[in-house]
Amino acid sequence: MKIFAANWKLYKTPTETRDFFSQFLEPSSKILNSNPGTEVLFFPPAVNLEAAVQSVKGFKVQIGAQNSYFESEGAFTGETSAQTVKSIGGTWILLGHSERRKLFSEADELIAKKFAHVQKLGLKPMLCIGETLEERESGKTKAVIQKQLSLGLSLADAKLSFAIAYEPVWAIGTGKVASLEQVEEAHAEVRTELSAKGFSAKTPILYGGSVKPDNAKALINVKNVNGFLVGGASLDAKSFLEICQA
Ligand code: PGA
Repeated sequence: MKIFAANWKLYKTPTETRDFFSQFLEPSSKILNSNPGTEVLFFPPAVNLEAAVQSVKGFKVQIGAQNSYFESEGAFTGETSAQTVKSIGGTWILLGHSERRKLFSEADELIAKKFAHVQKLGLKPMLCIGETLEERESGKTKAVIQKQLSLGLSLADAKLSFAIAYEPVWAIGTGKVASLEQVEEAHAEVRTELSAKGFSAKTPILYGGSVKPDNAKALINVKNVNGFLVGGASLDAKSFLEICQA
């Protein structure tokens, strides 16, 4: 199974969302129909979720939110409810993205609670993990992967499905893609940790960090790379289609 996921961050209005899908959906359905094991999903900004869900009706493309809180409702100003995402037809929630961790001070313990809540609602969480440049250069990559997985998945239900996105922080939005060896090594570590913790060997592990049409083919053939989480290159329908074609 391969998953191609688009992280739109804080880009696009509802009108731009509809325009994107009017270019993307027809050609993408050819790819999806001829590759039954492939999934394509989008994480648009919360305000655009409804426009995205409406746009993809009748197509196999799935929609999810970039974050959600661990309660469905209450006095939590500014948060996004996973229950509401579900009620409009969303199926996935991205959690623990490095921008949430760094800019919004999200800790592993908070991410773990969000993860459990998303699973309880019957939605699929995609947990992002990855080391900073400083951590890599000081030889801490494995330790960071282990810590973020054990804390982030500490409340996870092994019977329910989810995905991991390994995104080295230094490769996000920088144009610096990790080498094939670095990706293979990190994904092997994630795979080992998941099985040691009793999670399914089928849990998809996506790579993210400056994935572009010209590096997608080599990256998708790396062992244990089960798809991509794409930021910048997913904003343009043509370039994201090329990546999905990989
Ligand atoms: P990028 O972003 O593809 O622009 O590097 C990836 C991400 O943040 O998920």
